Amino acid sequence: MPTQSIQPSAAKRPRPAKPAVSGRGSSASTCNPRQTNRAGTSPAPEAPGTLSALSRFSEACACRPVDRPPIWLMRQAGRALPEYRALKEKYSFIELVQTPDLALEVTLQPIRRFGFDAAILFSDILVVAEALGQGYQFHDEGGIEMDFLLNSAAEIDALEVEAVTDRLQYAASALRQLKAALGHGAALIGFAGSPWTLANFMLEGAGVKEYGKARALLYSDPQLFGRLLEKLTRAVASFLQLQIDSGADAVQIFDSLGGGLSEGNFWAGSGLWIKKVIQSLKGVTPVIVFSKGTHGNWNELADTGAKVLGMDSNVRLAEMAKRLPQDMAVQGNLDPLVLTTNPEIVAAQTTRILREMHGRPGHIFNLGHGVPPNAKLENIQTLVDTVKNWRP
Ligand code: CP3
Repeated sequence: MPTQSIQPSAAKRPRPAKPAVSGRGSSASTCNPRQTNRAGTSPAPEAPGTLSALSRFSEACACRPVDRPPIWLMRQAGRALPEYRALKEKYSFIELVQTPDLALEVTLQPIRRFGFDAAILFSDILVVAEALGQGYQFHDEGGIEMDFLLNSAAEIDALEVEAVTDRLQYAASALRQLKAALGHGAALIGFAGSPWTLANFMLEGAGVKEYGKARALLYSDPQLFGRLLEKLTRAVASFLQLQIDSGADAVQIFDSLGGGLSEGNFWAGSGLWIKKVIQSLKGVTPVIVFSKGTHGNWNELADTGAKVLGMDSNVRLAEMAKRLPQDMAVQGNLDPLVLTTNPEIVAAQTTRILREMHGRPGHIFNLGHGVPPNAKLENIQTLVDTVKNWRP
């Protein structure tokens, strides 16, 4: 069981009413985040009268003005944290993901330590592949490895879309507990891989240097490609809906391999399927789309129905934000490698983005990709402090 447990009664408390996250009518409520945070966290105190982290995050998603940009980091849980490495001594990665109490604990670790405005469920994009019938392993040396590869039409046809919701109940359970533990003290983010990114892993069988099989299938057999992507779209949509129904305040679609498609093929390979996923979701929960390396496709990304677009580090955030519809929020962009340098550099790079984005409502601070395993804790702390203390 977890080495650091949250307050034991937290999970039994009633779920707090879900605020309207993107409805025009909801006004920003003010409250002290420390009063509502039941996760046992002790983030840096903020001035009384500031927004709750949940309100700050939700308002930023809706492009309404906030006191300062909310901050969370992709891969904020994991190897950079000693408390995560300690749990890894006892449990495998897959056990951590699939045991709700452990996933809860790992999700909360970075919230306790740094006081981020949002918690992202500790999980993995490949849980959807596993729920479809294609299991996988994670090796500390060597990364992920699918149990088999999708090699034929028969294997694609055998993927069990209808089983996904049942098989991913462990994620729903972790989210329900997280929602009760966090209250308004942090927003809760669910996620899934994009159909395109999942297709790449499922066809290659592992993380590989050069992803070519999905692209080749798109060109050589568009019909079979469509059959696979249509199944993945339904599976991803079911998983995101389950997470929304279990308390997620926002969901992020990781299109980490979107940049493997040329500009002209992005829509057919990835954008279209992301749009279908978003269209099928019920309610008003904001969707964040992070499509890495797809800089020529902003119009298409805006057309997916995303409320928030994630940006990698290879663009100038403020310039991109100007080109997008003004009711679309932006997230990301700080080069993750900055977290391996020193606090002075972190503060300077963070302040540059804050300054450039000043006056543009709808800015969520994040990295251009995940926290690197060799990120220094003092650098993460400096990043969070710089954003929290930011005054234009
Ligand atoms: O952001 C978070 O804190 C939530 C957790 C999270 C993980 N994976 C945990 C994880 C999230 C959001 C993901 C998404 C994910 N998983 C993506 C998309 C984002 C991205 O990084 O591009 C992808 C492509 C995967 C698939 C995956 N999982 C790979 C390729 C690997 C091996 C490479 C690596 O980073 O180790 C994983 C393993 C994985 N997923 C780890 C973590 C913390 C490492 C586990 C460990 O070393 O203990």
